Amino acid sequence: MKIGIDCLSFFIPDLFLDIAELAVARDTDPAKFKIGIGQDQMAVQPLTQDIVTLGANAAKKIVTDADRALIDMVIVGTESGTDFSKASAVVIHELLDIQPFARSFEIKEACYGGTAALQLAKEYVANHPDRKVLVIASDIARYGLNSGGEVTQGAGAVAMLITKDPRVLVLADDSTFLTENVYDFWRPAYSEFPIVDGPLSNTTYIESFQKVWHRHSEVTGLTLSDYDALSFHIPYTKMGKKALLSVLDETDEATRERLLARYEESIRYSRRIGNLYTGSLYMGLISLLENSAALTGGSRIGLFSYGSGAVSEFFTGYLAEGFENHLFQSAHQELLENRRQVSISTYEELFIQKLPVHGESAVYEDPMRFSIQKVEGDIRYYRKTES
Ligand code: COA
Repeated sequence: MKIGIDCLSFFIPDLFLDIAELAVARDTDPAKFKIGIGQDQMAVQPLTQDIVTLGANAAKKIVTDADRALIDMVIVGTESGTDFSKASAVVIHELLDIQPFARSFEIKEACYGGTAALQLAKEYVANHPDRKVLVIASDIARYGLNSGGEVTQGAGAVAMLITKDPRVLVLADDSTFLTENVYDFWRPAYSEFPIVDGPLSNTTYIESFQKVWHRHSEVTGLTLSDYDALSFHIPYTKMGKKALLSVLDETDEATRERLLARYEESIRYSRRIGNLYTGSLYMGLISLLENSAALTGGSRIGLFSYGSGAVSEFFTGYLAEGFENHLFQSAHQELLENRRQVSISTYEELFIQKLPVHGESAVYEDPMRFSIQKVEGDIRYYRKTES
């Protein structure tokens, strides 16, 4: 049976910061941020958008009325949870009017959570072929003002519907995965921001890729020349390229050129958005599919997922015939183009704003389809507009 991604879409906040302006404000050469790190813009999150609204806004484009009756699970991969106990998926399930006899829960393992959700969904559909699973990877990547990771911040969500006979990407049964207990990036429950060993996280990412890639190659017999494209977790766009470059001497010149060209197509959106943590790999996949003229039905794509801590996975899929008819290029372009640029001072003001805590209350206005409407009695209430 063919199982995989039937459709996928992203949502991002409607505010962004120019990375060159951030560089100047941080007394840094803009070339370091734009070339060395590989970012142009950063999504800036207003107070009224959290992982629930980002996720629900991403999913609304891909969930039809027929789907609402067939979805058995809503799984959110995130490392920006707003509650230690209640899952964001439960609220998203209600906002999207999914049929009630469903499972809804969150999965956590840093940026790997979206892939854990995707693989679980695939196994569920294998046992229940007529049912569907909604997978959402939703995060707000925050390292702190003036921190080393600030330039790589971002926010947004990717939603994917996992079904049999998928219209976009058929997933193979060939995952190789790896767990190693590494403290490269983690966020203790008492800490607002992650604790990051930047150089260690870069090294662990690259070494993890090499390990799961080589194991995958040994197990399947596939080599780099068998792939039309590779898609990477993209904490910042230079990162995946470093991992890709680290194995390219294993192949011929034509394959090198092809994989590097596809890599550039896979980072177009991330350059303008920044890190999505759990959603970054899938943002890269959307960018690749929507910006590459070289891919056709049957094209084989390898995907590398990495979550600090560290868990990684390499898996593959091939594109369904006619996949290009089930993408959302124009809606995604509109999201990117219709954003409002904010100044450094506005970004810094927004960054330190906080929702009420400990029973305090506040009411908000945000024109997005789903947004935080008010906080009262320690509960976030969400607005559901008709737009
Ligand atoms: N022009 C062009 N490039 C420049 C430059 C300039 N003026 N100045 C520096 N650079 C390059 C460096 O050569 C380096 O390139 P390289 O990695 O190819 O060697 C790159 O910019 C980054 O410079 P570096 O000094 O390493 O940056 P940093 O100490 O500020 O740290 C991160 C960068 C990514 C480690 C930091 O942003 C971070 O901690 N990020 C969060 C963690 C993360 O994303 N980890 C990834 C795995 S999940």
